[in-house]
Amino acid sequence: MPRLSIQPIHAPDRVGIPESAALEAYADFAARIQTETTGTDEFSYSAAELAALSQDAYLARRRYGVWDGDRLVAALATFWELDTANRTAYVSVLGVDPAYRRRGLAGELLDAAEAAIAEDGRSTVILISEHRVDDGAGERVRAPQGDASLPADAPAARFALGRGYRLGQLVLASSLPLAGRADEFRARGLAAERHDGYRLVTWQDRAPEEHVAAYAAARTLMNVEAPNGDLDVGEEHWDVERVRADEERTLGAGRRMLSVAAVAADGEIAGYTTLALAPGKQGVYQHDTIVLSAHRGRRLGMRMKLANLVLLADAAPERTAVYTWNADENDHMLAINRALGFRPHSFQATWQRG
Ligand SMILES: CC(C)(COP(=O)(O)OP(=O)(O)OC[C@H]1O[C@@H](n2cnc3c(N)ncnc32)[C@H](O)[C@@H]1OP(=O)(O)O)[C@@H](O)C(=O)NCCC(=O)NCCS
Repeated sequence: MPRLSIQPIHAPDRVGIPESAALEAYADFAARIQTETTGTDEFSYSAAELAALSQDAYLARRRYGVWDGDRLVAALATFWELDTANRTAYVSVLGVDPAYRRRGLAGELLDAAEAAIAEDGRSTVILISEHRVDDGAGERVRAPQGDASLPADAPAARFALGRGYRLGQLVLASSLPLAGRADEFRARGLAAERHDGYRLVTWQDRAPEEHVAAYAAARTLMNVEAPNGDLDVGEEHWDVERVRADEERTLGAGRRMLSVAAVAADGEIAGYTTLALAPGKQGVYQHDTIVLSAHRGRRLGMRMKLANLVLLADAAPERTAVYTWNADENDHMLAINRALGFRPHSFQATWQRG
């Protein structure tokens, strides 16, 4: 059999041109792999979204594919903060066409990604795999925190452990069916209101000018204040310029964003929650939700989430579900989500090396 070749997959700023053919093949391939591992293609990105979102001045991004002639048979994506203070790189959507497995292709792709990561001076690699919820039988792999586990014979587990990665965290993906819930969210939102000095501010797509600096500060804290299991995630620095660039890229990808922030009496953002509406999908993704440590214990998490579900019901009543991802050890957020009606959907396993 001729040796299959690994090629970088470049992301031009638009699709439908000869230079975007590889990215389009990548988007289709990644959607197939995610459908296999999670049971849905609701979490995949279209090529047009990838093209727009890849134009990011704050992240290094590389994608590699293995081609058999003109057929893409294996691929991965890797990214890391360009800020050299952050030493961590991520590898996601690593997948191999079922007909090409156990030939070392995933290993070769990961070699290529790890080499690029090391060459750019990053010392920690976090590898992400996705898994369906299973019956819990047989030998298991456990994360250092939380109760969840994965089957030890899952191909991704065998592969990651064999490459010297250890399981750093299990992240539970849950879904909330929305049909017929709008009035209930509205009523619960009203019942949860309190007069304790916090004001809920909502916005679509772009943060209001008066709050954007406080929002950037809260986003910087999100990465370090959210539970990160045993992972070294490093810091992400967000300033107004980065927030604005992110908003424009997101809009350029055809995504809409709905946000609610709790603003404290002094104007600081005590917490925020964001929903992302990707084009062509039925569901909605829950992005960040954080209540900063100084402001916890006031039910701000629930209040903000209810307000955003009401905003969603008004802005996009056709959307059928919200998907959210939470650290399995994040009891607080999981309790809020369970109370809202979220049910386990699948897991993301985060494996760390270095
Ligand atoms: C996990 C996956 C990427 C492995 O791809 P692959 O090209 O078959 O992996 P490789 O051939 O490079 O395997 C390297 C080693 O990993 C381990 N491994 C991989 N798949 C395995 C399996 N199904 N059962 C047991 N061990 C496995 C073995 O140790 C293997 O070495 P060996 O074949 O010499 O025994 C592939 O099964 C896949 O695409 N799965 C669905 C997507 C997914 O889970 N991605 C997350 C990856 S972390």
